[in-house]
Amino acid sequence: MSTSDLQSSSAGSTPSGVSIVTIDSLARNVGATVVLRGWLYNRRSSGKVHFLEVRDGTGMVQCVMGKNDVDEATFAAADHLSQETSVEITGLVKAHPKRPNVFEVAATGLRVLGKPSGEYPISPKEHGTDFLMDNRHLWLRSKRQHAILRVRHTIIRTIRDYFDGLGFTLVDAPIFTPNACEGTSTLFETDYHGDKAYLTQSGQLYMEAAAAAVGKAYCFGPTFRAEKSKTRRHLAEFWMVEPEVAFMDLDGDMDLAEGLLVALADRVLTERREELAILERDTSKLETVKRPFPRIRYDQAVAIINEHRRERRAKGETNQDGSPVEDFPWGEDFGGEDETVVSNRYDRPVMVHRYPAEVKAFYLKRDPEDARLALGVDVLAPEGYGEVIGGGQREDDLATLEAAIEHHKLPKEAFEWYLDLRRYGSFPHAGFGLGVERSVAWLCGLPHVRETIPFPRMLSRLAP
Ligand code: 4AD
Ligand code: MG
Repeated sequence: MSTSDLQSSSAGSTPSGVSIVTIDSLARNVGATVVLRGWLYNRRSSGKVHFLEVRDGTGMVQCVMGKNDVDEATFAAADHLSQETSVEITGLVKAHPKRPNVFEVAATGLRVLGKPSGEYPISPKEHGTDFLMDNRHLWLRSKRQHAILRVRHTIIRTIRDYFDGLGFTLVDAPIFTPNACEGTSTLFETDYHGDKAYLTQSGQLYMEAAAAAVGKAYCFGPTFRAEKSKTRRHLAEFWMVEPEVAFMDLDGDMDLAEGLLVALADRVLTERREELAILERDTSKLETVKRPFPRIRYDQAVAIINEHRRERRAKGETNQDGSPVEDFPWGEDFGGEDETVVSNRYDRPVMVHRYPAEVKAFYLKRDPEDARLALGVDVLAPEGYGEVIGGGQREDDLATLEAAIEHHKLPKEAFEWYLDLRRYGSFPHAGFGLGVERSVAWLCGLPHVRETIPFPRMLSRLAP
């Protein structure tokens, strides 16, 4: 198979000269006899006709095999094919008489390539989540998972296009790191030739160095958090894109984040309609993702949460554990439910900025107008999907940053290189991190991040 064959969606031809094509190229092959290679998804039979539903990764097509169209042995063989048998089917491509863009193959030949050694574990009946997760390597073949993989791919490509289009340079950050970035409690420790090393929590610190080299930098790779939380939003390994821009402030950072989320919703809506339909995503909830996003201060978010809590008290409600509903204590970070209360006010993502510095990372710049606050921003997705972006303006004053490192009890030696960025031509700069899996969950409308990544790594899952 040559690359030019791949580009034309044709995988060459058989010795008899029949083109081998993929299902997504059937529109160009109406009236032609072709060969398809794929897996049997479903089969039914009327006795005289077999209907074989075949998928090949690019799509799904019904192959109709009449008793008189093939020899007796082939017709009999087709009646015993089990789910996920890999097959090669020869047939004439026909356009569906009524439904546009739907095709059918009138089969004239069948070759079994790989017979399953037993019944396929994932049948169309309902399975429990644990069972499906244990069989993730097979589950990926199902319609729903296939749709999610394709949306995820589109999201990743859109992210790259967005930053590349704005003149950013991709700068890869390392995965083994000597120091923490996002707090010391979620570090995965490894042995690095006798030294301690950690799997990276974020490439941000390296992107700050890169921003001084190329102006606008981004990294895009896997990041790791040894989070003990078992929630629908947390993975131990997730993908994050992290832009960092020299001479950009918090407002510019919010503009950049807003543009990215608008581009994501827009592109998924235009390119992945079919997949969103399979996922039964209410697309009207994505149509509203337009500029401008509301930008509210932490204080305003606290007011929204407290208004909600007052309403709950007035209705006589209590917390789940029976304790009374109390006002949100100013100074704390929001929990998942608080974020949902805030985001439920809006039909598009909301940007919450100027959190109390105490609950945020050491590197955020203090608000010059109120030293209690940090110039950070969290972008909360609508419909309760929570924080999809976290970022902000960085502390660019050497002495303030040194004090913050000390305050957070971080080992200063490990950060000397990072402090050098403030010693040699310090510059205002800002950036953020967008989590790919939470974005996939939101855009696809999935209840849990475990289906957003091909092979999830979670608190209690390392396999397959
Ligand atoms: O808010 P976080 O922790 O921010 C950072 O790591 C910054 N250093 C980024 C930066 O400014 N360059 O993480 C950023 C995003 C979150 O908003 C969320 O989308 C995702 O990463 N994220 C997770 N996704 C899945 N599982 C987890 N355990 C996640 N932790 C963070
Ligand atoms: Mg965060």
